[in-house]
Amino acid sequence: MRASCFAVLLLISNVGYADMFSNLSYEAVNDSIPAPLIELTTDQASAASGQAVFVERDAGHCVLCHQVESLNAPFQGDLGPALSDVGSRLSPGQIRFRLVDPSRLNPNTIMPSYYKIDHLRQLPDEYKGQPVLNELQIEQLVVYLTSLKG
Ligand code: HEC
Repeated sequence: MRASCFAVLLLISNVGYADMFSNLSYEAVNDSIPAPLIELTTDQASAASGQAVFVERDAGHCVLCHQVESLNAPFQGDLGPALSDVGSRLSPGQIRFRLVDPSRLNPNTIMPSYYKIDHLRQLPDEYKGQPVLNELQIEQLVVYLTSLKG
């Protein structure tokens, strides 16, 4: 009941979202989260660090479902759309939204929500209360994906 009231409020206001049970919060405007979750330093903002998050198995491991033509990584999956030109199709804010919580755009999507705390899943204690990716990793992915223009 609490959750459904909250969802209705969200529909009415259409801006401002906070995970009720944690301190994750951001402003969504339509299908976009225009403001970065954190500001990256110049050192952190390289496409190469985002590419590492994209590929590495214990980080995003996005290659499980997505292909990027320019990427030299084996075993790229095709459960999700190819992302070789995603930077020319989506704005940084739209990309950010799709990483943070794609289930808000498509409740049936198989893509995990990377910046959300899932209260229903049984998780080992060390993962409780944490999103799958942190703010730094999300923002580095946004930099990398925005650089992919096909
Ligand atoms: C289990 C498979 C799976 C994984 C893992 C996955 N995705 Fe996705 N992704 C999808 C699917 C399927 C879609 C299509 C959208 C939908 O289902 O509504 C999608 C959509 C997207 C989109 C929007 C693409 C477009 O053209 O609109 C982006 C950007 C994206 N994913 C990035 C990522 C990143 C970055 C990661 C890793 C952190 C990731 N995905 C992990 C399955 C996955």
